[in-house]
Amino acid sequence: MPPKPTKYAHLSIDGEADAIDLPIYQGSEGTPVIDVAKLGANGYFTYDPGFVSTASCDSDITYIDGDQGILLHRGYPIEELAEGSNYLELCYLLLNGELPNQAQNDEFVRIIKKHTMVHEQLAFFFRGFRRDAHPMAIMCGVVGALSAFYHDSLDIENPEHRRITAHRLIAKIPTIAAMCYKYSQGQPFIYPRNDLDYAANFLHMMFATPCENYEVSPTLARAMDRIFLLHADHEQNASTSTVRLAGSTGANPFACIAAGIAALWGPAHGGANEAVLTMLRDIGDEKHIGEFVKKFKDKDSGVRLMGFGHRVYKNYDPRAKVMQQTCKEVLEELGVENDPLLRLAQKLEKIALEDDYFVQRKLYPNVDFYSGIILKAIGIPVEMFTVIFATGRTPGWISQWNEMISQSYKIGRPRQLYQGHSQRRYVPMDKR
Ligand code: SDX
Repeated sequence: MPPKPTKYAHLSIDGEADAIDLPIYQGSEGTPVIDVAKLGANGYFTYDPGFVSTASCDSDITYIDGDQGILLHRGYPIEELAEGSNYLELCYLLLNGELPNQAQNDEFVRIIKKHTMVHEQLAFFFRGFRRDAHPMAIMCGVVGALSAFYHDSLDIENPEHRRITAHRLIAKIPTIAAMCYKYSQGQPFIYPRNDLDYAANFLHMMFATPCENYEVSPTLARAMDRIFLLHADHEQNASTSTVRLAGSTGANPFACIAAGIAALWGPAHGGANEAVLTMLRDIGDEKHIGEFVKKFKDKDSGVRLMGFGHRVYKNYDPRAKVMQQTCKEVLEELGVENDPLLRLAQKLEKIALEDDYFVQRKLYPNVDFYSGIILKAIGIPVEMFTVIFATGRTPGWISQWNEMISQSYKIGRPRQLYQGHSQRRYVPMDKR
């Protein structure tokens, strides 16, 4: 619920005697909001395509200061979480609001490990897809299919049902993600292993085969955990807003997460990490950077500098800084610090950050600019990059859904500015 108004906006409209008094709320951090709910009763709607200046909800989970490049999860800076925490601990924090003590942490890890397997029937859903289907298409379908299971916990008003649903999703999404990869390779699915930690288990399901023992590299497992952590939540981005909107109808939570996966897939959102690698490969060599930057600045070219720019960050995306550092660490530990793609990305970043076009528009690297280089170094194919993003973002989606359902909420139903035909009479075919 919003806090008490701190002051009021008085909206006066030409030709109307009385101003409309609109309450203004100030959150614990960030930009104050004007509550425009009563405008409808006064004969007006607000108009804000793309919700550039619109707060859709109040939330306690994540705060972003785009000008300062600050990202807090339940008040903790992403840099400190990346340094000192781990992905499952952050999942607990996002869901429960506080960091776990040792006993709470151990119990949460135990519960998640107990839910990593998927129902054997779920494997049959994969068979309808071609082997070359994009894994995000498969993720949308199979995660949506989860809504056909678990009829023991479908009362979304029951906090315990919401809790078990959150645990099942956090536990099963990596298993499904790895199954998408194995299916594309024509290899058998690998069952989860409860003796491995979350990221190591994911990499084992991705790269192990039944034919021989597969040891997960601790370096790559640490990098994978860091990547999941950096993607965990990001306030009301497009896919989270999709999950909230779907959830506001009371829809099955697994179906709501599938809707979020679909929204994430777009190249303007989570699909950007795959697009960055494609862009770097298209550029190929440093000597071609100039011609590409010219295209990125030309609106008619239809191409953008992928991995740059952000609706909220008008400064460095703090995740991009951590990702760049992780990238260097991983490549050094793998002995590929001279990876040509990393060198090309660093050169491209330097040129863009010195170019007026990007500086004037406050376009900086975002979370997607370096993530693909690490994922490639880990051995994950480009078409799986957004699947990794979806896997990492799941605790954020389900925490935001849980927060909305646990508060009093209304079904989301935006209005419009209608510019079509006014009423007119139907014309029979012989009169047209
Ligand atoms: C994610 O919202 C989130 O929090 C998302 C996310 C999360 O964690 O959930 O952070 C993850 O989606 C990160 C963003 C990944 N997308 C990309 O990297 C794709 C490339 N970037 C963009 O297309 C763009 O920057 C957006 C979509 C991210 C933001 O677009 P906005 O806020 O709608 O800004 P805009 O399109 O109105 O651009 C403002 C200006 C325009 O120029 P002018 O009309 O003012 O002259 O900047 C230009 C744009 O043409 N511009 C770019 C650009 N991004 C913006 N020009 C070249 N290259 C770019 N990348």
